[in-house]
Amino acid sequence: MDDSIIKGFSKYTKHQRIDALILKYGFDENLALWLDSFEAPDQITRKIIDDLSENPISSFHLPFSIAPNFVVNDKNLFFPLVTEESSVVAALSNIGGFWAQRGGFHAEVLGTEKKGQVHFIWKGNPETLNLLFPEIKEKLFAESAFLTVKMIKRGGGIISIELKDMTPVLPDYYQLDASFETCDAMGANFINSCLEQFGKSIQQYFRGNEQLSVKERDCEIIMAILSNYTPNSLVRAWVECPVDNLLDGKTSDECRLFAGKMEQAIRISQSDVSRAVTHNKGVFNGIDALALATGNDFRAIDACGHAYAARSGRYCGLTDILIQDGVFRFSIELALAVGVVGGVTTVHPLSKLAIQILDQPSASELMMYMAVAGLASNFGAVKALVSGGIQEGHMKLHLSNIMNQIRIPEENIDQVQRHFQDKTVSFSAVEEYWKSLKLEGYEDN
Ligand code: MEV
Repeated sequence: MDDSIIKGFSKYTKHQRIDALILKYGFDENLALWLDSFEAPDQITRKIIDDLSENPISSFHLPFSIAPNFVVNDKNLFFPLVTEESSVVAALSNIGGFWAQRGGFHAEVLGTEKKGQVHFIWKGNPETLNLLFPEIKEKLFAESAFLTVKMIKRGGGIISIELKDMTPVLPDYYQLDASFETCDAMGANFINSCLEQFGKSIQQYFRGNEQLSVKERDCEIIMAILSNYTPNSLVRAWVECPVDNLLDGKTSDECRLFAGKMEQAIRISQSDVSRAVTHNKGVFNGIDALALATGNDFRAIDACGHAYAARSGRYCGLTDILIQDGVFRFSIELALAVGVVGGVTTVHPLSKLAIQILDQPSASELMMYMAVAGLASNFGAVKALVSGGIQEGHMKLHLSNIMNQIRIPEENIDQVQRHFQDKTVSFSAVEEYWKSLKLEGYEDN
């Protein structure tokens, strides 16, 4: 066996883990001190953050940002955002205010149903199973009742359990296909517990049914797991304004030209997968930043959103445009499942703050805010793309990152920015210019 294989790493203390890192990579002995400098100052917060994962050696920081001026269904909000992509926050801040002056965002939730399946193999006659199913279903509800009491009190629970004959796709394969209402929770634990209980119950049912043949008494549970695809947990958001009022300080003709280009860009995202993926990446720039800030599982949200984008059998852009009777309407319809209680949302101190910043929304309200964030970041990206490209804005942010890295003093920032206004930004170009400035003796000023 390979001697370098480490066993029981999760039982190591933080210091032992860092020592293992130093041993393996030859890092400086001060690594522990340096890593410690990224940790929360108080022990309680450190423990909260450490407990969110396994084998932590420090905390990994990302900016916690704010995009102001989001008017959603007449409510004016700040959007809390966690992302490493500064242009996403810059665009959202801009687009929030842009639409606030045009009636704000509108949003509605069309459904909140969550799904999960027990996948099982049963080697009997499908018709027998269909006949037995009403009795089985009763048992499934009865034996999972101990898990659903609290959720039912909150207004949720198991909505339905259906039997799906999947034998046309795989021999002897069936599903218990269940729907749930999980109220303000994302509900993953609740759903998975119910599904695992269904698995146990159905197995017991077959095992104990002496009217069945020996072969039919055997039921193999392959897995019981929620589905992150929630096509009936659906939200819609939109903005609209007269076409002639679409751009600040521009003529009607310019506004119409812009509207037409936006429409073409959306049609392209709906007809070409290469563009659709990037288009939707721009949608999820906003959604993920809000999901991370509020402690929601962005991987689940993204997986669901991309599957929803392919619901017609072809992967398409998620946003849509309608220009009719002089009105420009830009919209998104999105399947997503979120929570505002339980999980990271109620544990991470900054997620708790993010939820407060959003004025303690319900899960449905958060769904609307996420759709709005996605719509806004997509609008910002496509607006920039059809009006000369994104590089100008990106380069400004790139320049500011480079100036940070080179440690250009605050008092010289303006001068460097002015110099690069009409020049190509690169690390070496900024470094060169900075050297030349120093040679000119700016330090003496
Ligand atoms: C970059 O993070 C996102 C964009 O590429 C999205 C788009 O192309 O629509 C600008």
